Amino acid sequence: MTKLRNPAVSFAIFLLLYALLAVVPASAQGHPTPNSQLASKDVNSRVESLLKEMTLEERIGQMVQYSAGFATGPSASNLTYDELVAKGQVGSMLNVVGAERTNHYQHIAMEKSRLHIPILFGLDVIHGHRTTFPVPLAIAASWDPEAAETVARVGAQEARADGIAWVFSPMVDIARDPRWGRIIESNGEDPYLSSALARAWVKGYQQGDLSKPDSVAACVKHFAAYGAAIAGRDYNAADMSEITLRQVYLKPYHAAVDAGVATVMTSFNSINGVPATADLFTLTHILRKEWRFDGFVVSDWGAIAELKNHSIGDGPTVARKALLAGTDMDMEGDLYGTVIAAQVQSGKIPESVVDEAVRRILRVKFALGLFDHPYTVVGPAYTATPERRETARKVADETMVLLKNDPVEGVGELLPLSAKAKTVALIGPMADDAQDLLGAWTVAGNPKDVITLKAALGEQFGDKLLYAPGCGLLSGEDENALKSVTFAGSAKNSANEPVPDDGKMIAEAVETARKADVAIMALGEPTNWMEGEAASRAHLGFTGNQEKLLEAVVATGKPVILVVLAGRPLELKWAAEHVPAILEAWSPGIEAGPAIVDILFGAVNPSGKLPSSFPRAVGQEPLYYAQMPTGRPARGDLSRMPRDAAEKFVSRYMDEPNSALFPFGWGLSYTRFSYGEPTVDRAEVPVHEVVDDHNPVVTVSVDVRNTGSVAGTEVVQLYIRNTEASVEQPVRELKGFARVTLVPGETKRVTFPVGFDELNFYSADLKKTVEPTSYDIWVGGSSLAPAGTSLKIVE
Ligand code: NOJ
Repeated sequence: MTKLRNPAVSFAIFLLLYALLAVVPASAQGHPTPNSQLASKDVNSRVESLLKEMTLEERIGQMVQYSAGFATGPSASNLTYDELVAKGQVGSMLNVVGAERTNHYQHIAMEKSRLHIPILFGLDVIHGHRTTFPVPLAIAASWDPEAAETVARVGAQEARADGIAWVFSPMVDIARDPRWGRIIESNGEDPYLSSALARAWVKGYQQGDLSKPDSVAACVKHFAAYGAAIAGRDYNAADMSEITLRQVYLKPYHAAVDAGVATVMTSFNSINGVPATADLFTLTHILRKEWRFDGFVVSDWGAIAELKNHSIGDGPTVARKALLAGTDMDMEGDLYGTVIAAQVQSGKIPESVVDEAVRRILRVKFALGLFDHPYTVVGPAYTATPERRETARKVADETMVLLKNDPVEGVGELLPLSAKAKTVALIGPMADDAQDLLGAWTVAGNPKDVITLKAALGEQFGDKLLYAPGCGLLSGEDENALKSVTFAGSAKNSANEPVPDDGKMIAEAVETARKADVAIMALGEPTNWMEGEAASRAHLGFTGNQEKLLEAVVATGKPVILVVLAGRPLELKWAAEHVPAILEAWSPGIEAGPAIVDILFGAVNPSGKLPSSFPRAVGQEPLYYAQMPTGRPARGDLSRMPRDAAEKFVSRYMDEPNSALFPFGWGLSYTRFSYGEPTVDRAEVPVHEVVDDHNPVVTVSVDVRNTGSVAGTEVVQLYIRNTEASVEQPVRELKGFARVTLVPGETKRVTFPVGFDELNFYSADLKKTVEPTSYDIWVGGSSLAPAGTSLKIVE
């Protein structure tokens, strides 16, 4: 064993590396950077003149962010902030909402602090601000980047009116395990889809121009690989090869950086043993040097102080490590503000490192125009106007995924329901639960703005709508206990409310179903308390007694339509076997009821597709379509025990098929689409053409026809597989998609350009490469697309 290196020598090597990688911003090194505003001469000369005026204490103050309002995590302090702001010791605040409240602190900063540096107010604007849209996973199910852009645009306008110039969105962590509650905030399991959406979110927030009065700085999070938490347990470590990190997990963050995102948030997890908030490799080598990111990096809430729990040092040490790695701002932590100055004075931290962090933060403040327009005009109180509702409803309509619509004997397909349906029973605890229909991650959204499914159906059916909640969302005391946890401003105290009697309620629901022609069941999970952050689950079924309720109603023999309301893929195995029609409606936001009714009655033809595989059993997780091949692929009938050695010694479960219950890309329509054979315009392409010219080299085409009797929109998906690469590649990967609307009988030719961007992969020595290999290509309406062609890349 060699002797441990002298710490002074290690530090010197570290600094050298740091200087090489980070201290000189990419823009100043003459490389173009993704956000030209942050690199602009004007912004940078204003930053430099201000920086010269600042004391060390004031500079460090810019790197400090406190939550002054409600808490979205465990609080670091009970400070009152007026004095700190006046002293220039707080550069940013979060969870301060509303023009009056933000102006209060801004006046102190602008009028009482020595250098009049405005505060940057940040907030979790995740699926809209006041106007609450469907959760991000639902928006991903629309496969419509324009929908994401619209949600971001409306969110930005409303946030700005509330004094917020910085939103902690988009969250683009690849999420392949629905046990992880934060899957709701993600774009799902696929790097291609997530990257397309990441670009759209950033565009919607920033409009390519931060100085516009209704632009906000976006914050892509959580860097990096937060979604790969082992066993789906929140805040847990992530561990993976660098190839997987680059080929899968980093892609959507990179897409956001390329789209000019102004800020990045670190993640709570470690990656391959290094806590992300102190990871020089990802935060500096990749983010700054490879991607040329010129904005600033904020830690997640308290994540710098929590580095102590990762056992990498005491307070001063972890603060130093985080800063040197590239974390510029300390969110709701009291470390940067208290332990950095002494280390600069003692020479442990070079002053230039502090200066660079401050530069990055000030650049964003200048680019946003905060120095020139620090205050927010106090406007009229928010109302969910018809225009806002219309936008929210259109987005929600696109997010709904029809999972199943099997014919029922004597009735045919249950959906769309005839407007003449006589008596309808609406059953289930989600049917009238405004708070949970709103979705998990809304700070400023108001459940009072939600039109529930009960309210929307009531409009249509009047007395002919029968209703029974059927049971609570959780059983017994759990429901009241959980709902009493104060989170993101919700302070409902339910602890002393009566415990619902589920047995009695199920019996009532059965009676209600018996009186109706058809039962619509609205089931799910308590989105506001069991989804999102700190909401991992070990079981993925409906919570509480809802499955019992479903079984009891199905047993009446009445036709049942199940509407699933949850922000994560739930285990729907029993339902898929026994219920003829299932609609995945996610957490739809304020227009929940009207949007579900649009789909149920066919005013809108469903067009959503799953961004995440739905498992048969939780034991299959993490389950995703783009798996690596195995030497012993599954053979035989996997729905039963193996009958011989050939069926036994393969990569399979003994008690469940390998496949998803509903696969990635899946979603039905009220019409039918047929696909022609896909073709490529060149069967062979020389490798140098692909590598030298990053433009498309081949076009894949397919004819898609609406063979049904109503107009519909199909999400046409392109998948490829590289079959002979030097490093094994997934069995399928999404490389293109298009939403195509067709009237009955209409055919459209859909084309996908394919080139280096679609064909490349990481070689064993971590280079993005294309080799002379063969590609299988499929085009279809889900990741099961059968119709294929191929392409050869030749020497
Ligand atoms: C912690 C969450 O992980 C992050 O997504 C959020 O932006 C911050 N808290 C601020 O609320």
